[in-house]
Amino acid sequence: MISLKTKYVGLDLETPIIVSSAGITETVERMRRCEENGAGAVVMKSLFENEISRTSPTPRFKIIKHNMGSYKTFTLFSYEQASEWGPDRYAEEVTNAKAKLKIKIIPSINCSTEGGWVSYARKMEEAGADALEINVSCPHSSITFTGKEVEKEILTAAQHVREAVSIPVIAKLSPQLTSPLSMVHALKDIGINGVTIFNRITGLDIDIEAEQPIMHRGYAGHGGPWAIMYPLRWISAIAPQVNIDISASGGVSSADDVIKYLLAGATTVQVCTAVYMNGYEIVQELVKGLTQFMERKGYQCIDDFRGKVCSRILGTTEIERRHLVVAQINKKIAPCKAACPIDQSAQAYVSLIAEGRFEEALKLVKQENPLPAICGRVCHHPCEAECTRGLIDQPLSIAALKRFLADYEMRMGVSPIQSVKLDKEDKIAVVGSGPAGLSAAYFLTQRG
Ligand SMILES: Cc1cc2nc3c(=O)[nH]c(=O)nc-3n(C[C@H](O)[C@H](O)[C@H](O)COP(=O)(O)O)c2cc1C
Ligand code: SF4
Repeated sequence: MISLKTKYVGLDLETPIIVSSAGITETVERMRRCEENGAGAVVMKSLFENEISRTSPTPRFKIIKHNMGSYKTFTLFSYEQASEWGPDRYAEEVTNAKAKLKIKIIPSINCSTEGGWVSYARKMEEAGADALEINVSCPHSSITFTGKEVEKEILTAAQHVREAVSIPVIAKLSPQLTSPLSMVHALKDIGINGVTIFNRITGLDIDIEAEQPIMHRGYAGHGGPWAIMYPLRWISAIAPQVNIDISASGGVSSADDVIKYLLAGATTVQVCTAVYMNGYEIVQELVKGLTQFMERKGYQCIDDFRGKVCSRILGTTEIERRHLVVAQINKKIAPCKAACPIDQSAQAYVSLIAEGRFEEALKLVKQENPLPAICGRVCHHPCEAECTRGLIDQPLSIAALKRFLADYEMRMGVSPIQSVKLDKEDKIAVVGSGPAGLSAAYFLTQRG
């Protein structure tokens, strides 16, 4: 029986997925939706000591699309700073959430004075919080961007909170620190139970016509699916070296991303932007995808594979630097094409498929091969034995790609073949109806 149960900073979670701090976790009703969709915990929208931050400007979000040819991604650029509530109303919501929900409730605080850190932390503990996340990384304003001695100030704040409460304390860090690893070591030494790696990055975007910064003419937070690699890199470095729970945050858009974070050593995985973009139901998909992965791999619990990738990461001196692949330009013909009995330009149609140009790929295949559906199924594909990608990991599945194109043609009803005029008087008889005979008949017909 597969179990997703996870111990995080001493708390028992049903799943390792946490909906992270943002407007989507501000009220009991929103937290309920996280619970209903399978989250193990929520980190509540941050409570700020600085009162001006409690009123966010509108609009708060802009989706910025990045298109480079057929490659597409997006950035969620946002200015949503703090919960609109003061400490008393916020604490009331913590107590309500604890009374009404089963999942673990983790409030988040962001303070600017020593007294603030201490009193807000105590208030959250008294309200019944299961743990406390300290947000020392808000991309709009926080110690990370205002302190002269950033690391020292973060540690001082963490120490005040640690001494003020006995519930588990988690520090949410910025990706803009110079040394996340040494910061996590230092936080562990003062008794911090977990770290969230990372918050969003501060950014700027510009309207080139108005020649003005967008998003209320300020710096704002930005992130998107592309943001996963930097936290992944640091988690994989920190997990084997510091015995502390790590909650991954940044760029999760699918169950694969959750699995990557766990393989890199994260204890839990947070999701935020994907909920804004797809709704709370995305959490169900993350849970389902994680369960399916574990079934496929035969894992019973997350500890069976947590951190498995860490020891497989090579250092700069260990990376294989020999040139395994040597371009065979002097042959003037791709090895796969040379190996193919009918000289099919496999390299060309594979490239077109990679760009999503299926009809052009099909047309190219048909110029040399009238039977792609059959070849894609029965050919013993000598092209794949010569595929140079095989020197790195595995050859491309050239025959299966051809089969895909043929099936695409039938499914979509597209035909790249132009009708031809039979303008020759002479008749040609083809003897034999195997692939060679049929192909000969086809090409002769094409020529009239
Ligand atoms: C609109 C928005 C509001 C956010 N508000 C907070 C916040 O109040 N406190 C906090 O610690 N992080 C906040 N975050 C950061 C998220 O909790 C999360 O760490 C970050 O977005 C990276 O995860 P993602 O790529 O899944 O969005 C916010 C993010 C977004 C997009
Ligand atoms: S699958 Fe067969 S027909 Fe197609 S490119 Fe490879 S060798 Fe040629």
